[in-house]
Amino acid sequence: MTRGVCPFYEPGLEEALGREMAAGRLSFTAEASEALRDADVVFICVGTPARANGEANLVAMESSAREIARHAPDGVVVVEKSTVPAGTAERVGNTLARERNGFRFDVASNPEFLREGTALQDALQPDRIVIGVESERARDVLRRLYQALTDQGYRLIETDIATAELAKHASNAFLAMKISFANALARICERAGADVTSVAEVMGTDPRIDRAFLNAGLGYGGYCFPKDLTALGRMAARLGYEFTLLKEIERLNDEAIDAAAAKVEDALWNLEDKRVAILGLAFKPGTDDVRFSPALALAQRLLTAGARVVGFDPQASANAKQDLPELEVASDPYEAATGAHCLVLATEWEEFRHLDLAALKQVMAYPVIVDGRNAFDPAEVAAAGFAYYPTGRPPVLQDRSTVVLPDLDEALLAGPDGPR
Ligand SMILES: NC(=O)c1ccc[n+]([C@@H]2O[C@H](COP(=O)([O-])OP(=O)(O)OC[C@H]3O[C@@H](n4cnc5c(N)ncnc54)[C@H](O)[C@@H]3O)[C@@H](O)[C@H]2O)c1
Repeated sequence: MTRGVCPFYEPGLEEALGREMAAGRLSFTAEASEALRDADVVFICVGTPARANGEANLVAMESSAREIARHAPDGVVVVEKSTVPAGTAERVGNTLARERNGFRFDVASNPEFLREGTALQDALQPDRIVIGVESERARDVLRRLYQALTDQGYRLIETDIATAELAKHASNAFLAMKISFANALARICERAGADVTSVAEVMGTDPRIDRAFLNAGLGYGGYCFPKDLTALGRMAARLGYEFTLLKEIERLNDEAIDAAAAKVEDALWNLEDKRVAILGLAFKPGTDDVRFSPALALAQRLLTAGARVVGFDPQASANAKQDLPELEVASDPYEAATGAHCLVLATEWEEFRHLDLAALKQVMAYPVIVDGRNAFDPAEVAAAGFAYYPTGRPPVLQDRSTVVLPDLDEALLAGPDGPR
Protein backbone atom coordinates (compact mmCIF):
# COMPACT_ATOMS: atom_id res chain seq x y z
CA MET A 1 0.00 0.00 0.00
CA THR A 2 2.86 2.42 0.74
CA ARG A 3 3.72 2.17 -2.98
CA GLY A 4 0.13 2.85 -4.00
CA VAL A 5 -0.39 -0.74 -5.13
CA CYS A 6 -3.79 -2.15 -4.19
CA PRO A 7 -3.47 -5.75 -2.90
CA PHE A 8 -6.94 -6.67 -4.23
CA TYR A 9 -9.07 -5.87 -7.26
CA GLU A 10 -11.55 -3.03 -6.83
CA PRO A 11 -12.50 -0.96 -9.90
CA GLY A 12 -10.98 2.54 -9.78
CA LEU A 13 -9.35 2.12 -6.38
CA GLU A 14 -5.72 1.98 -7.44
CA GLU A 15 -6.10 5.11 -9.57
CA ALA A 16 -7.74 6.91 -6.65
CA LEU A 17 -4.95 5.79 -4.30
CA GLY A 18 -2.32 7.08 -6.71
CA ARG A 19 -4.09 10.40 -7.12
CA GLU A 20 -4.58 11.04 -3.40
CA MET A 21 -1.08 9.88 -2.45
CA ALA A 22 0.47 12.12 -5.12
CA ALA A 23 -1.56 15.05 -3.77
CA GLY A 24 -0.22 14.34 -0.27
CA ARG A 25 -3.67 13.67 1.20
CA LEU A 26 -3.17 9.97 1.84
CA SER A 27 -0.29 7.95 3.21
CA PHE A 28 0.22 4.52 4.74
CA THR A 29 2.38 3.22 7.53
CA ALA A 30 2.74 -0.07 9.38
CA GLU A 31 3.59 1.85 12.58
CA ALA A 32 0.52 2.42 14.74
CA SER A 33 2.32 5.19 16.63
CA GLU A 34 2.97 7.11 13.41
CA ALA A 35 -0.62 6.83 12.22
CA LEU A 36 -2.13 7.74 15.58
CA ARG A 37 0.23 10.42 16.86
CA ASP A 38 -1.69 13.51 15.68
CA ALA A 39 -5.07 11.96 14.95
CA ASP A 40 -8.32 13.85 15.55
CA VAL A 41 -10.36 10.87 14.43
CA VAL A 42 -9.45 7.18 14.21
CA PHE A 43 -11.51 4.71 12.19
CA ILE A 44 -11.24 1.07 13.26
CA CYS A 45 -11.72 -0.95 10.05
CA VAL A 46 -10.28 -4.32 11.08
CA GLY A 47 -11.80 -7.66 10.16
CA THR A 48 -14.55 -9.08 12.37
CA PRO A 49 -14.68 -12.71 11.19
CA ALA A 50 -16.93 -15.43 12.57
CA ARG A 51 -15.75 -17.65 15.38
CA ALA A 52 -16.52 -21.37 15.04
CA ASN A 53 -19.80 -20.82 16.93
CA GLY A 54 -20.84 -18.01 14.57
CA GLU A 55 -20.17 -15.19 17.01
CA ALA A 56 -18.17 -12.19 15.77
CA ASN A 57 -14.51 -12.49 16.67
CA LEU A 58 -13.62 -9.06 18.08
CA VAL A 59 -10.01 -9.71 19.04
CA ALA A 60 -8.77 -7.26 16.39
CA MET A 61 -11.20 -4.62 17.69
CA GLU A 62 -9.75 -4.99 21.17
CA SER A 63 -6.13 -4.88 20.05
CA SER A 64 -6.91 -1.78 17.93
CA ALA A 65 -8.38 -0.12 21.02
CA ARG A 66 -5.19 -0.92 22.95
CA GLU A 67 -3.00 0.60 20.23
CA ILE A 68 -5.17 3.71 20.23
CA ALA A 69 -4.91 4.08 23.99
CA ARG A 70 -1.14 3.72 23.70
CA HIS A 71 -0.54 6.27 20.94
CA ALA A 72 -3.49 8.59 20.22
CA PRO A 73 -3.70 12.10 21.68
CA ASP A 74 -6.30 13.17 24.21
CA GLY A 75 -9.57 14.30 22.67
CA VAL A 76 -9.46 11.73 19.86
CA VAL A 77 -12.75 10.44 18.42
CA VAL A 78 -12.62 6.67 17.95
CA VAL A 79 -15.00 5.47 15.25
CA GLU A 80 -16.10 1.88 14.67
CA LYS A 81 -16.19 1.31 10.91
CA SER A 82 -16.05 -2.47 11.14
CA THR A 83 -19.35 -4.33 11.35
CA VAL A 84 -19.80 -5.28 14.99
CA PRO A 85 -22.55 -6.52 17.33
CA ALA A 86 -24.47 -3.91 19.28
CA GLY A 87 -22.62 -3.18 22.51
CA THR A 88 -19.13 -3.32 20.99
CA ALA A 89 -18.55 0.43 21.27
CA GLU A 90 -19.07 0.13 24.99
CA ARG A 91 -16.40 -2.58 25.13
CA VAL A 92 -14.05 -0.45 23.03
CA GLY A 93 -14.63 2.47 25.40
CA ASN A 94 -13.93 0.29 28.43
CA THR A 95 -10.67 -0.93 26.92
CA LEU A 96 -9.56 2.60 26.03
CA ALA A 97 -10.27 3.75 29.59
CA ARG A 98 -8.57 0.75 31.22
CA GLU A 99 -5.45 0.96 29.10
CA ARG A 100 -4.67 4.60 29.87
CA ASN A 101 -5.46 6.44 33.05
CA GLY A 102 -7.25 9.72 32.43
CA PHE A 103 -7.46 9.18 28.65
CA ARG A 104 -9.99 11.61 27.13
CA PHE A 105 -11.73 10.20 24.08
CA ASP A 106 -15.16 9.76 22.49
CA VAL A 107 -16.42 6.61 20.81
CA ALA A 108 -18.81 6.63 17.84
CA SER A 109 -20.20 4.15 15.34
CA ASN A 110 -20.18 4.78 11.60
CA PRO A 111 -21.10 1.50 9.90
CA GLU A 112 -19.95 0.96 6.35
CA PHE A 113 -22.50 0.15 3.65
CA LEU A 114 -20.25 0.00 0.57
CA ARG A 115 -20.40 -2.98 -1.76
CA GLU A 116 -17.30 -4.66 -3.10
CA GLY A 117 -17.07 -4.01 -6.84
CA THR A 118 -18.63 -0.54 -6.51
CA ALA A 119 -16.85 0.50 -3.31
CA LEU A 120 -15.60 3.91 -4.46
CA GLN A 121 -18.91 4.98 -5.90
CA ASP A 122 -20.76 3.75 -2.83
CA ALA A 123 -18.40 5.65 -0.54
CA LEU A 124 -18.50 8.89 -2.50
CA GLN A 125 -22.20 8.80 -3.42
CA PRO A 126 -23.69 6.99 -0.41
CA ASP A 127 -27.40 6.15 -0.08
CA ARG A 128 -27.02 7.23 3.52
CA ILE A 129 -24.34 7.93 6.08
CA VAL A 130 -25.16 6.60 9.53
CA ILE A 131 -23.45 7.93 12.62
CA GLY A 132 -24.08 6.62 16.10
CA VAL A 133 -23.01 9.36 18.46
CA GLU A 134 -23.61 10.04 22.11
CA SER A 135 -21.48 13.14 22.72
CA GLU A 136 -21.36 16.63 21.25
CA ARG A 137 -17.70 16.25 20.32
CA ALA A 138 -18.24 13.03 18.35
CA ARG A 139 -21.32 14.49 16.62
CA ASP A 140 -19.49 17.67 15.70
CA VAL A 141 -16.36 15.91 14.41
CA LEU A 142 -18.30 13.40 12.29
CA ARG A 143 -20.64 16.05 10.90
CA ARG A 144 -17.63 18.12 9.84
CA LEU A 145 -15.90 15.08 8.41
CA TYR A 146 -18.86 14.29 6.14
CA GLN A 147 -19.76 17.88 5.38
CA ALA A 148 -18.46 17.69 1.80
CA LEU A 149 -21.04 14.95 1.16
CA THR A 150 -23.94 16.38 3.16
CA ASP A 151 -23.44 19.74 1.38
CA GLN A 152 -24.10 17.85 -1.87
CA GLY A 153 -27.37 16.55 -0.43
CA TYR A 154 -26.29 13.10 0.73
CA ARG A 155 -28.29 12.00 3.74
CA LEU A 156 -26.74 11.72 7.17
CA ILE A 157 -28.71 9.85 9.82
CA GLU A 158 -27.79 10.33 13.47
CA THR A 159 -28.68 7.68 16.02
CA ASP A 160 -27.43 6.40 19.33
CA ILE A 161 -24.46 4.07 19.11
CA ALA A 162 -26.19 0.70 19.65
CA THR A 163 -28.80 1.59 16.99
CA ALA A 164 -26.11 2.40 14.42
CA GLU A 165 -24.33 -0.88 15.20
CA LEU A 166 -27.54 -2.87 14.91
CA ALA A 167 -28.73 -1.07 11.75
CA LYS A 168 -25.80 -2.49 9.81
CA HIS A 169 -26.40 -6.09 10.89
CA ALA A 170 -30.12 -5.67 10.31
CA SER A 171 -29.57 -4.33 6.77
CA ASN A 172 -27.31 -7.21 5.76
CA ALA A 173 -29.61 -9.82 7.31
CA PHE A 174 -32.62 -8.34 5.51
CA LEU A 175 -30.84 -8.36 2.15
CA ALA A 176 -29.79 -11.97 2.72
CA MET A 177 -33.42 -12.75 3.53
CA LYS A 178 -34.55 -11.32 0.18
CA ILE A 179 -32.06 -13.52 -1.66
CA SER A 180 -33.10 -16.61 0.27
CA PHE A 181 -36.77 -15.78 -0.30
CA ALA A 182 -36.12 -15.64 -4.05
CA ASN A 183 -34.30 -18.98 -3.86
CA ALA A 184 -37.16 -20.64 -1.98
CA LEU A 185 -39.51 -19.27 -4.65
CA ALA A 186 -37.21 -20.74 -7.28
CA ARG A 187 -37.66 -24.20 -5.78
CA ILE A 188 -41.44 -23.81 -5.99
CA CYS A 189 -41.30 -22.35 -9.51
CA GLU A 190 -39.22 -25.31 -10.66
CA ARG A 191 -41.92 -27.67 -9.40
CA ALA A 192 -44.85 -25.55 -10.63
CA GLY A 193 -43.45 -24.74 -14.07
CA ALA A 194 -43.42 -21.02 -13.25
CA ASP A 195 -40.67 -18.48 -13.91
CA VAL A 196 -39.06 -16.98 -10.80
CA THR A 197 -37.62 -14.07 -12.77
CA SER A 198 -41.09 -12.98 -13.83
CA VAL A 199 -42.44 -13.54 -10.32
CA ALA A 200 -39.68 -11.24 -9.01
CA GLU A 201 -40.50 -8.64 -11.68
CA VAL A 202 -44.12 -8.61 -10.59
CA MET A 203 -43.19 -8.42 -6.91
CA GLY A 204 -40.64 -5.69 -7.63
CA THR A 205 -43.22 -3.35 -9.12
CA ASP A 206 -44.55 -2.93 -5.57
CA PRO A 207 -42.45 -0.14 -4.06
CA ARG A 208 -42.88 -1.72 -0.63
CA ILE A 209 -41.01 -4.79 -1.90
CA ASP A 210 -38.57 -3.46 -4.55
CA ARG A 211 -36.98 -5.64 -7.23
CA ALA A 212 -33.42 -5.49 -5.84
CA PHE A 213 -31.96 -8.65 -4.27
CA LEU A 214 -34.78 -10.86 -5.53
CA ASN A 215 -32.61 -12.71 -8.03
CA ALA A 216 -32.74 -16.45 -7.57
CA GLY A 217 -29.44 -18.21 -8.07
CA LEU A 218 -26.62 -19.83 -6.16
CA GLY A 219 -27.26 -17.61 -3.16
CA TYR A 220 -25.19 -15.05 -1.32
CA GLY A 221 -21.57 -15.33 -0.25
CA GLY A 222 -18.66 -13.03 0.48
CA TYR A 223 -17.11 -11.90 3.69
CA CYS A 224 -20.08 -9.98 5.06
CA PHE A 225 -23.48 -11.63 4.65
CA PRO A 226 -22.66 -15.08 6.06
CA LYS A 227 -20.73 -13.80 9.08
CA ASP A 228 -23.09 -10.90 9.79
CA LEU A 229 -26.08 -13.22 9.75
CA THR A 230 -24.57 -15.63 12.26
CA ALA A 231 -23.19 -12.78 14.38
CA LEU A 232 -26.65 -11.21 14.59
CA GLY A 233 -28.19 -14.55 15.52
CA ARG A 234 -25.60 -15.16 18.25
CA MET A 235 -25.98 -11.64 19.57
CA ALA A 236 -29.77 -12.01 19.71
CA ALA A 237 -29.41 -15.34 21.55
CA ARG A 238 -27.04 -13.77 24.07
CA LEU A 239 -29.67 -11.14 24.69
CA GLY A 240 -32.25 -13.87 25.27
CA TYR A 241 -34.02 -13.77 21.89
CA GLU A 242 -34.00 -16.69 19.43
CA PHE A 243 -34.06 -15.05 15.98
CA THR A 244 -34.90 -18.35 14.26
CA LEU A 245 -35.64 -16.72 10.90
CA LEU A 246 -31.90 -16.13 10.47
CA LYS A 247 -31.19 -19.87 10.62
CA GLU A 248 -33.75 -20.49 7.90
CA ILE A 249 -32.17 -17.83 5.66
CA GLU A 250 -28.87 -19.67 6.01
CA ARG A 251 -30.46 -23.06 5.33
CA LEU A 252 -32.12 -21.77 2.16
CA ASN A 253 -28.78 -20.35 1.05
CA ASP A 254 -27.13 -23.77 1.42
CA GLU A 255 -30.09 -25.35 -0.36
CA ALA A 256 -29.40 -23.13 -3.40
CA ILE A 257 -26.03 -24.88 -3.83
CA ASP A 258 -27.68 -28.29 -3.38
CA ALA A 259 -30.23 -27.42 -6.07
CA ALA A 260 -27.53 -26.43 -8.58
CA ALA A 261 -25.48 -29.56 -7.82
CA ALA A 262 -28.62 -31.68 -8.31
CA LYS A 263 -29.16 -30.10 -11.74
CA VAL A 264 -25.63 -30.95 -12.82
CA GLU A 265 -26.14 -34.49 -11.59
CA ASP A 266 -29.53 -34.74 -13.27
CA ALA A 267 -28.04 -33.58 -16.55
CA LEU A 268 -24.96 -35.83 -16.40
CA TRP A 269 -26.22 -38.86 -14.47
CA ASN A 270 -22.97 -39.93 -12.77
CA LEU A 271 -20.39 -37.27 -11.99
CA GLU A 272 -17.38 -39.57 -11.73
CA ASP A 273 -14.93 -38.68 -14.49
CA LYS A 274 -17.20 -36.02 -15.93
CA ARG A 275 -15.66 -32.64 -16.59
CA VAL A 276 -17.58 -29.62 -15.35
CA ALA A 277 -16.64 -26.07 -16.33
CA ILE A 278 -17.51 -23.32 -13.85
CA LEU A 279 -17.65 -19.76 -15.14
CA GLY A 280 -17.24 -17.20 -12.38
CA LEU A 281 -15.43 -18.01 -9.13
CA ALA A 282 -15.62 -14.71 -7.22
CA PHE A 283 -18.49 -14.44 -4.75
CA LYS A 284 -20.00 -11.83 -7.06
CA PRO A 285 -19.01 -9.96 -10.23
CA GLY A 286 -16.64 -7.01 -10.00
CA THR A 287 -14.33 -8.42 -7.34
CA ASP A 288 -11.52 -10.96 -6.95
CA ASP A 289 -12.85 -11.88 -3.49
CA VAL A 290 -13.63 -15.59 -3.15
CA ARG A 291 -14.42 -15.62 0.57
CA PHE A 292 -17.50 -17.82 1.07
CA SER A 293 -18.04 -17.84 -2.68
CA PRO A 294 -21.06 -19.95 -3.72
CA ALA A 295 -19.13 -20.84 -6.89
CA LEU A 296 -16.38 -22.45 -4.82
CA ALA A 297 -18.90 -24.20 -2.57
CA LEU A 298 -20.45 -25.73 -5.68
CA ALA A 299 -17.02 -26.61 -7.12
CA GLN A 300 -16.13 -28.35 -3.86
CA ARG A 301 -19.41 -30.29 -3.93
CA LEU A 302 -18.79 -31.48 -7.51
CA LEU A 303 -15.18 -32.39 -6.79
CA THR A 304 -16.27 -34.44 -3.78
CA ALA A 305 -18.76 -36.25 -6.01
CA GLY A 306 -15.92 -37.27 -8.31
CA ALA A 307 -16.13 -34.71 -11.13
CA ARG A 308 -13.17 -32.88 -12.64
CA VAL A 309 -13.86 -29.20 -12.21
CA VAL A 310 -12.27 -26.48 -14.33
CA GLY A 311 -13.00 -22.88 -13.44
CA PHE A 312 -12.50 -19.50 -15.01
CA ASP A 313 -12.96 -16.02 -13.57
CA PRO A 314 -11.91 -12.66 -15.06
CA GLN A 315 -10.28 -11.62 -11.75
CA ALA A 316 -10.54 -14.31 -9.10
CA SER A 317 -8.93 -17.41 -10.64
CA ALA A 318 -5.71 -17.11 -8.63
CA ASN A 319 -7.53 -16.59 -5.31
CA ALA A 320 -9.87 -19.49 -6.13
CA LYS A 321 -6.96 -21.81 -6.88
CA GLN A 322 -5.36 -20.85 -3.59
CA ASP A 323 -8.57 -21.61 -1.66
CA LEU A 324 -9.38 -24.80 -3.55
CA PRO A 325 -6.19 -26.33 -4.96
CA GLU A 326 -8.05 -29.31 -6.52
CA LEU A 327 -9.81 -26.87 -8.83
CA GLU A 328 -8.20 -26.52 -12.25
CA VAL A 329 -8.26 -23.02 -13.63
CA ALA A 330 -8.39 -22.05 -17.28
CA SER A 331 -7.25 -18.83 -18.91
CA ASP A 332 -10.52 -18.12 -20.72
CA PRO A 333 -14.11 -19.42 -20.80
CA TYR A 334 -13.60 -21.46 -23.97
CA GLU A 335 -10.56 -23.22 -22.53
CA ALA A 336 -12.59 -24.01 -19.39
CA ALA A 337 -15.40 -25.40 -21.56
CA THR A 338 -13.16 -27.55 -23.74
CA GLY A 339 -14.09 -31.18 -23.22
CA ALA A 340 -16.63 -30.26 -20.52
CA HIS A 341 -19.78 -32.34 -20.15
CA CYS A 342 -21.54 -29.43 -18.47
CA LEU A 343 -20.93 -25.73 -18.10
CA VAL A 344 -22.15 -23.97 -14.95
CA LEU A 345 -22.48 -20.22 -14.86
CA ALA A 346 -21.82 -19.44 -11.21
CA THR A 347 -20.98 -15.71 -11.09
CA GLU A 348 -22.65 -13.36 -13.54
CA TRP A 349 -19.77 -11.30 -14.90
CA GLU A 350 -21.11 -9.17 -17.76
CA GLU A 351 -18.68 -10.71 -20.27
CA PHE A 352 -20.28 -14.14 -19.80
CA ARG A 353 -23.57 -12.80 -21.20
CA HIS A 354 -21.83 -12.23 -24.54
CA LEU A 355 -20.11 -15.56 -25.05
CA ASP A 356 -20.08 -17.11 -28.52
CA LEU A 357 -22.49 -19.96 -27.82
CA ALA A 358 -21.75 -21.76 -31.09
CA ALA A 359 -18.03 -21.75 -30.27
CA LEU A 360 -18.76 -23.03 -26.75
CA LYS A 361 -20.90 -25.86 -28.06
CA GLN A 362 -18.23 -26.85 -30.50
CA VAL A 363 -15.59 -27.37 -27.81
CA MET A 364 -17.81 -29.04 -25.20
CA ALA A 365 -18.26 -32.80 -24.90
CA TYR A 366 -21.99 -32.43 -24.11
CA PRO A 367 -24.00 -29.29 -24.86
CA VAL A 368 -25.34 -28.77 -21.34
CA ILE A 369 -25.55 -25.47 -19.45
CA VAL A 370 -26.62 -25.04 -15.83
CA ASP A 371 -27.26 -21.35 -15.30
CA GLY A 372 -26.78 -20.63 -11.60
CA ARG A 373 -27.52 -16.92 -12.08
CA ASN A 374 -30.10 -16.84 -14.88
CA ALA A 375 -27.64 -14.82 -16.93
CA PHE A 376 -28.24 -16.40 -20.32
CA ASP A 377 -31.19 -15.77 -22.61
CA PRO A 378 -33.07 -19.10 -22.65
CA ALA A 379 -34.18 -18.65 -26.27
CA GLU A 380 -30.61 -17.97 -27.46
CA VAL A 381 -29.18 -20.90 -25.55
CA ALA A 382 -31.91 -23.18 -26.83
CA ALA A 383 -31.41 -21.97 -30.40
CA ALA A 384 -27.70 -22.76 -30.06
CA GLY A 385 -28.65 -26.35 -29.28
CA PHE A 386 -27.91 -26.53 -25.58
CA ALA A 387 -29.87 -28.36 -22.92
CA TYR A 388 -30.39 -25.48 -20.53
CA TYR A 389 -31.07 -25.70 -16.80
CA PRO A 390 -31.75 -22.21 -15.40
CA THR A 391 -32.69 -21.47 -11.79
CA GLY A 392 -36.38 -21.32 -10.96
CA ARG A 393 -37.36 -21.16 -14.62
CA PRO A 394 -38.49 -23.89 -16.99
CA PRO A 395 -35.52 -25.85 -18.36
CA VAL A 396 -34.97 -26.23 -22.07
CA LEU A 397 -34.44 -29.90 -22.66
CA GLN A 398 -33.42 -30.42 -26.25
CA ASP A 399 -34.69 -33.48 -27.98
CA ARG A 400 -32.81 -36.30 -26.26
CA SER A 401 -31.40 -37.40 -29.59
CA THR A 402 -29.30 -34.20 -29.71
CA VAL A 403 -28.20 -34.19 -26.10
CA VAL A 404 -26.92 -37.31 -24.49
CA LEU A 405 -27.90 -40.23 -26.62
CA PRO A 406 -27.39 -39.11 -30.22
CA ASP A 407 -28.37 -42.36 -31.88
CA LEU A 408 -30.60 -44.16 -29.45
CA ASP A 409 -33.95 -42.52 -30.23
CA GLU A 410 -33.49 -42.97 -33.95
CA ALA A 411 -32.52 -46.56 -33.46
CA LEU A 412 -35.61 -47.14 -31.34
CA LEU A 413 -37.83 -45.34 -33.82
CA ALA A 414 -36.38 -47.33 -36.65
CA GLY A 415 -37.03 -50.61 -34.83
CA PRO A 416 -35.83 -53.92 -36.18
CA ASP A 417 -37.65 -53.45 -39.49
CA GLY A 418 -36.49 -49.98 -40.39
CA PRO A 419 -38.34 -46.64 -40.10
CA ARG A 420 -42.01 -46.71 -39.19
N1 LIG B 1 -15.77 -6.01 2.54
C1 LIG B 1 -16.87 -5.29 2.49
O1 LIG B 1 -17.51 -5.14 1.46
C2 LIG B 1 -17.39 -4.62 3.73
C3 LIG B 1 -18.50 -3.76 3.62
C4 LIG B 1 -18.98 -3.16 4.77
C5 LIG B 1 -18.40 -3.44 5.99
N2 LIG B 1 -17.35 -4.29 6.06
C6 LIG B 1 -16.77 -4.57 7.37
O2 LIG B 1 -15.50 -3.98 7.43
C7 LIG B 1 -14.62 -4.80 8.22
C8 LIG B 1 -13.41 -5.16 7.41
O3 LIG B 1 -13.82 -5.91 6.27
P1 LIG B 1 -12.80 -6.26 5.09
O4 LIG B 1 -13.56 -6.96 4.04
O5 LIG B 1 -12.02 -5.03 4.73
O6 LIG B 1 -11.86 -7.29 5.86
P2 LIG B 1 -10.38 -7.73 5.50
O7 LIG B 1 -10.14 -8.95 6.30
O8 LIG B 1 -10.21 -7.76 4.02
O9 LIG B 1 -9.49 -6.53 6.03
C9 LIG B 1 -9.29 -6.31 7.39
C10 LIG B 1 -7.95 -5.58 7.57
O10 LIG B 1 -7.73 -5.41 8.94
C11 LIG B 1 -6.37 -5.63 9.22
N3 LIG B 1 -6.21 -6.00 10.64
C12 LIG B 1 -6.60 -7.14 11.24
N4 LIG B 1 -6.31 -7.10 12.54
C13 LIG B 1 -5.72 -5.90 12.78
C14 LIG B 1 -5.22 -5.27 13.94
N5 LIG B 1 -5.27 -5.86 15.13
N6 LIG B 1 -4.70 -4.04 13.80
C15 LIG B 1 -4.68 -3.43 12.61
N7 LIG B 1 -5.15 -3.98 11.47
C16 LIG B 1 -5.65 -5.20 11.57
C17 LIG B 1 -5.99 -6.75 8.29
O11 LIG B 1 -4.61 -6.79 8.08
C18 LIG B 1 -6.77 -6.35 7.03
O12 LIG B 1 -6.00 -5.48 6.23
C19 LIG B 1 -15.45 -6.00 8.67
O13 LIG B 1 -16.00 -5.75 9.92
C20 LIG B 1 -16.56 -6.04 7.63
O14 LIG B 1 -17.71 -6.66 8.12
C21 LIG B 1 -16.82 -4.87 4.96
